[in-house]
Amino acid sequence: MSITNFPGENSSASAGVPLTKVTMPALLEMKRQGKPISSLTAYDYATSRLVDEAGIDMVLVGDSLAMVVMGHDNTLAITVDEMLHHTRAVRRAVRRALLVADMPFGSYHGTVAEGLANAIRFVKEAGAEAVKVEGPRVELVRALTEAEIPVVGHLGLTPQSIHRMGGYRVQGRTAETVLALKADAMALAEAGAGALVLEGVPREVAAAITAELPIPTIGIGAGPDCDGQILVFHDLLNLTFAPPAKFVRRYADAAALIRGAVEHYREDVERRTFPNDEESYHLPEAVRQALDAPVKTGKLRKV
Ligand code: KIV
Repeated sequence: MSITNFPGENSSASAGVPLTKVTMPALLEMKRQGKPISSLTAYDYATSRLVDEAGIDMVLVGDSLAMVVMGHDNTLAITVDEMLHHTRAVRRAVRRALLVADMPFGSYHGTVAEGLANAIRFVKEAGAEAVKVEGPRVELVRALTEAEIPVVGHLGLTPQSIHRMGGYRVQGRTAETVLALKADAMALAEAGAGALVLEGVPREVAAAITAELPIPTIGIGAGPDCDGQILVFHDLLNLTFAPPAKFVRRYADAAALIRGAVEHYREDVERRTFPNDEESYHLPEAVRQALDAPVKTGKLRKV
């Protein structure tokens, strides 16, 4: 595994996770060693810091931000500039994890040259260490790899294909589509992809691809046999407002925590119990006395 500590940094991050920078070659080494890869999406500075300090290996600024942060119905509306804006915020927070930026719909669906130009923006303007593209875009992956941009592929249920798929449906359920998925996965790896997200495919299909592929697979709704797992941050914490997909496990109820805290605050304001005297600033004693003096002497004393 490649070991790069930040200059002047000792080897421990604040949550006790060693600050050994995760790189794309490090993910490959983890696959070789059979070490599971943990991955999560993140979209802003504060939560990205927590994710990184918790020791997650790969942070994805996913285009799911269109839905979970911006409230769109699907991921299609998000723009390159919006993705860059969020990637920059995450970049300021993430020190250890591999930082991957999702290329949004439309940013790589024209020519390879356009896709390459947009990918370069994520590296140059936002500090991404890799980009993710959906679908078997083999020529694009080859061009990005030749341009020194590490790529994460994404096959199976690719949310940017929602209209072609007719909704978010599990993919690879027939012998024909399974063979096509396997061929696409192999072609992406041969073109230089460093890792592959497998989303919404039967466990057996993900297991077979993981066993055959030389690069790590990161599953979401693809069963436990992938080399790693990824979830959407808001799903993990119950911060989405729709019933979760079958593969989501809620690890905490941040919605209840936030709602409870905000209601408590509102009640305190309404009861005038917030802020209290200790939460208030006070004048120095001398100034207080000087201001009191005119009341007693009729003159304001200088202090
Ligand atoms: O945009 C996203 O969050 C993703 C992950 C779910 C893989 O693509």
